[in-house]
Amino acid sequence: MKKILLIHGPNLNLLGDRERDIYGTATLKEINDKLGAIAKKEGITLKAVQSNHEGEIVELIGGAKGKYDAILINPAAYTHTSVAIRDAISASAVPCVEVHLSNIYKREEFRHTSLIASVAKGQICGFGVMSYILGLEAAIYLTKEKNK
Ligand code: DQA
Repeated sequence: MKKILLIHGPNLNLLGDRERDIYGTATLKEINDKLGAIAKKEGITLKAVQSNHEGEIVELIGGAKGKYDAILINPAAYTHTSVAIRDAISASAVPCVEVHLSNIYKREEFRHTSLIASVAKGQICGFGVMSYILGLEAAIYLTKEKNK
């Protein structure tokens, strides 16, 4: 059975309560449940983790090689700052999809740069919870050997 690791970065534990005008009303649990159900239908195991700590995310990615077939990540604020997460993705060689609820290119200038984008297979942003659903579809696509 193929396995996908879903990583949510800092402050995403606050979804549903945090800046609802930007991030919507769905909670992290609702997002994880929805994605879990989609993965299950596809015969994929989905492991979801949220962390507010950069080092913990680096270690999760570092441990993914040989264990997971793809990574789906919303690096949240670390998108714009973390060379360490970028390098971890690059080193792990596990195909990775980057997602964001909001359209980071329509927001403050500091959000226009993603340090993750150049090591991800692709990026989806701006569609709210649908970004995660589309991201999961992309990650499932990547688990199929020939698409890696
Ligand atoms: C975010 C966008 C980031 O700029 C921000 O720091 C987040 C969430 C998104 O999903 O839209 O925390 O990754």
